[in-house]
Amino acid sequence: MSTITSNETWHTRAAERTPGGVHSNARLVGAETVFVRGEGPWLWDVEGQRYADYMLGRGPAYLGHSPATVLDAVQAASVNGMCLGHATPLEVEATEAMLSVIPWAERVRFTSSGTEAVQAALRLARAATGRSIVIQFEGQYHGWVDGVSVVPGASAHQPAPATKGQAPSSYHDTLLLPWNDLALLEQTFLDHSEQIAAVIMEPINIFGGVMPVDGFLAGSRLLTEQHGALLIFDEVVTGFRLAPGSAAGLLGVTPDLATYAKAMGSGWPVSAVAGAARWFDGVASDQVRLSGTYNGNAAAMAAVIATVDMTRDGSVHRAVDTYGRTLMERLVVTAAEQGVALSANGFPSGFWLSFDGLDTPDSDAAAFRLAALLRAHHVIMYRRTWLSSAAHDAEAMEFSVAAFAAALGDDD
Ligand SMILES: Cc1ncc(COP(=O)(O)O)c(C=O)c1O
Repeated sequence: MSTITSNETWHTRAAERTPGGVHSNARLVGAETVFVRGEGPWLWDVEGQRYADYMLGRGPAYLGHSPATVLDAVQAASVNGMCLGHATPLEVEATEAMLSVIPWAERVRFTSSGTEAVQAALRLARAATGRSIVIQFEGQYHGWVDGVSVVPGASAHQPAPATKGQAPSSYHDTLLLPWNDLALLEQTFLDHSEQIAAVIMEPINIFGGVMPVDGFLAGSRLLTEQHGALLIFDEVVTGFRLAPGSAAGLLGVTPDLATYAKAMGSGWPVSAVAGAARWFDGVASDQVRLSGTYNGNAAAMAAVIATVDMTRDGSVHRAVDTYGRTLMERLVVTAAEQGVALSANGFPSGFWLSFDGLDTPDSDAAAFRLAALLRAHHVIMYRRTWLSSAAHDAEAMEFSVAAFAAALGDDD
């Protein structure tokens, strides 16, 4: 490790060889601070400054950074070879662990990132239905791959690409609808009779921050059933965070397939698609191909097993929720003391702030400005969302509330 200790030096060095100095465009904001260590609820930059972290790597560090139990399990598993390229007992045990906390599912395929799990789920849905069109919702994110990477276009039938570099053919079969509009979803099914393979949604969009209205999830379930399409829950963020395993139980609606990543591996790169056995027909015979060199690698599997073991009984989730609920309340009260009307919506382990009292989409400029001010006071959150972990404690709470009060004071 070099002894250079300036953020600026490291960032300059990074940006000379890597576009923006970061390896994911989601990290372009804040790229000028370079981090060297994460432990529990804290991050340290190369200058030795400590930050309370509510971004948690955008979700994975549900147990806090560097959780000792998971780290030990990963180290023990890794010495026997990382990528054996064959079936392993670790894969079997990780699969069984997953299914023990996703009671509605019968099959699991591991992948390595959320994007890959989504791609796998869409392929399974298209294979099972023999149809092409996939419906998704505005303001939701399912990864950076071309087919799902769309923004509103001229009409619901013509989504626009989210980025340069996408061939129009890649999102030709993607329809992008407004969230929470059940009547439009029904009409879209009628307009595209027997062409729709799946509806994919983040049932709770933690980073976008718009709750489903009453009946939207259940209505989507009914419509997909009626029209022979699959309902896919993208639980890459909600899974293992809102509940041990699947959040679907909490929401009272069971999808056909769901994707998982982030919190399920406590920071080690792992993801999965899970669902009923019949949706995986054709995979074992190689008619439906799902591949990946790193799928099921030893570190990932050990991380999943250790994470499920630690969280299965729900006590970790109850503790995280208690912390998050207290934080929600204290941030709202702190804001009120300064004459700022603020609401905290969502779930304690992943909530978001609104300045207008409404549960509005994440274009809330005031919340974004606050995130920048908070960073100056050494608190990190992402967009307008606060993620809590099992490692957040009384010290982190007092530090964060004081920083929040100071940041609001700066916003005059
Ligand atoms: C809901 C959701 N789905 C999919 C993804 C893509 O996951 P990854 O970045 O691991 O490819 C993300 C990433 O943030 C996500 O939030």
